[in-house]
Amino acid sequence: MTAARAWRESARLLARARERIPGAHHLSSRPLLADGGGPIYFTRGAGARIWDVDGNEYVDFFMGFGPFLLGYAHPEVDAAAVEQLRGGSLLSMSHPMHVRFVEALVDWFPGAEMGLFFKTGSEATTAALRIARRATGRRIVVRAGYHGWHDWCLPREPYVPAALDEQVLEFTPDDPTSLDRIFTECSRAIAAVIVAPEMLRSLTPARLAALQARTARAGAVFILDEVKTAFRTQPGSVQQRFGLTPDLTTVSKALGNGWPIAGVVGKRAVMEAAADLHVSATFHGDTAPMAAALAVMRIIRREHADETAWRLGARLIDGLLRIARAHGVDAQAYGEPLPPMPFFRIADDRRRERFYGEMLARGFLLHPRHMWFVSAAHTDEDVTRLLDAADESMKHAVAE
Ligand SMILES: Cc1ncc(COP(=O)(O)O)c(C=O)c1O
Repeated sequence: MTAARAWRESARLLARARERIPGAHHLSSRPLLADGGGPIYFTRGAGARIWDVDGNEYVDFFMGFGPFLLGYAHPEVDAAAVEQLRGGSLLSMSHPMHVRFVEALVDWFPGAEMGLFFKTGSEATTAALRIARRATGRRIVVRAGYHGWHDWCLPREPYVPAALDEQVLEFTPDDPTSLDRIFTECSRAIAAVIVAPEMLRSLTPARLAALQARTARAGAVFILDEVKTAFRTQPGSVQQRFGLTPDLTTVSKALGNGWPIAGVVGKRAVMEAAADLHVSATFHGDTAPMAAALAVMRIIRREHADETAWRLGARLIDGLLRIARAHGVDAQAYGEPLPPMPFFRIADDRRRERFYGEMLARGFLLHPRHMWFVSAAHTDEDVTRLLDAADESMKHAVAE
């Protein structure tokens, strides 16, 4: 028996938004389900729960697309940021918080020696490339997938500057020979290779280490984009788990638990190229998100938030696989790339839409086409309830 849920107010707001906001959304997002039958506007979040504008409550596995590792409206994190706001959070020149924040961030990543702060992941990845180009005196960068919304990582549409084609090359991270080919053709001109762990389907320490070694052989900078994976991957990041020390690392998302903060950390020899480089902006020095980030790092260590997210994610994957098998459905549950970012891919479009619609009706906000984010605010009970609901939903999805 599924709960009846109405999304009338969401539909009304969407109609208003269409009049004033191009595309209506800030997320360039599609509706949750194909027929648009779902919530769009939300007014409150607490822990792992979220409430839509029509008053429906959900257990959320979007978690803001990654930032809320500790859950929505975390009292200790938000109190730290608010306390910082009270003293004026963006003062002229520098603030002691800048030093404290970068020290803590650099301490988090073994092998990192210096760091810089930004507001968003896109800023961090763009800055990392600029630093790498400065450090090497070379122009070309090699990338594999999504690193943000800036020009250099857009598909080659007519609105994207044409010359980028010559300076931003793409490789297939699961096929190391594709990187080899690029290095063979223009080795001496390549400044950096940037890759995010979730872009490798077969993510192993050896695979990532091989990409780094190939990059180093050509004298280029290896950038690991841990915007999604840092802080939520036990113990602390993918590079710590795999024993890697990239030249540069980019982070954001979980670092601020909802407060806008990002960073680039890395080896001194590369980072020093940023010393008199223009990588600054009006709001980079905002200290409230840094105070939040210090609290986040303290809480992750104290409460082992990364372990909780890992364990719950692994339970979800295991349970969903069993449900798919029991119902004879062509579906895969897996970590993308690791258990704290699980996903459940259902091959058949109609079954997928039905399944996710049924889950929504049972109070689970799950993305049908994008990895989910498990937080330390989720509980074993949430996972048990989700799996029970998934079993029921799958019955409906296959009964046709
Ligand atoms: C791997 C990766 N890098 C960079 C970004 C860009 O971060 P932001 O959306 O904060 O600009 C994202 C965002 O999803 C990301 O997943």
